[in-house]
Amino acid sequence: MDPAEFYDSLAEQYHKIFAGDWWRIAERQGQVISAILAQHGVEPPKSVLDCTCGIGTQALPLAQRGFRVTGTDLSEHAVRRARREADERGIDIRLHAADVRRVADVVNEQFDAVISFDNSLPHLLTDDDLTQALVSARECLRPDGIFAASIRDYDALVRDQVHGVMPRIHDGRISGQAWTWSDDYRTIEITVFVIEGERANVLSTTYRALRRQELTDALQAVGFQDIRWLDPETSGFYQPVVTAHRTTESA
Ligand SMILES: C[S@@+](CC[C@H](N)C(=O)[O-])C[C@H]1O[C@@H](n2cnc3c(N)ncnc32)[C@H](O)[C@@H]1O
Repeated sequence: MDPAEFYDSLAEQYHKIFAGDWWRIAERQGQVISAILAQHGVEPPKSVLDCTCGIGTQALPLAQRGFRVTGTDLSEHAVRRARREADERGIDIRLHAADVRRVADVVNEQFDAVISFDNSLPHLLTDDDLTQALVSARECLRPDGIFAASIRDYDALVRDQVHGVMPRIHDGRISGQAWTWSDDYRTIEITVFVIEGERANVLSTTYRALRRQELTDALQAVGFQDIRWLDPETSGFYQPVVTAHRTTESA
């Protein structure tokens, strides 16, 4: 499946792939990302664009914490679900469907921070797609703005020959992932499954196994500066996080 079809199909189930209560995990992620942004002087009520917001796992708690948040995502169904989750909690947020490669044309605004968390950039399978996304994200930043993203630690996953996410049981259901690597370890076919009672939901899509150095190089190539990687032990986020400035802090 292409990412739009994959996440449209997964939107109503998305909370079920977490090993715990989705909203509690989301609130914790909002706290951790707030702390990362604060280190770059971005605190409420500054503005944040989450350019791969999905159902709102990061965008909604950040808006609840007082940031002025716009969330965009390729999947219209995910955006619709994010809208519902926001309305149910009385969270003020702007949400639009948009491909990150052209997000600047849709939001038409500059933000203090642009974020893309939980392994979204690896959906961009080619260098050209990744470059288009980073150029568009950069155009959405104020001159002193900060970009922050998290991806899986593909360097370690290739080294350790990891083939999926172990099944976990939560709230009466089992979820997990099975991965098939390409011969050159550059892409992975990921099959996500959720088993609930006698029903099994099984969906597959392709990720690029985006190495840290590749993302660093791509950020540098489109003009980002001061690129830094934070390991989970430092940031508190469960994946490596990269931060980058549109211009250097002293500029
Ligand atoms: C692993 S999910 C993470 C979503 C959200 N950040 C979260 O943690 O719930 C990856 C997201 O990237 C989005 N995505 C994939 N390709 C995209 C693109 N070209 N433009 C915008 N969003 C995209 C998907 O629709 C999906 O919602």
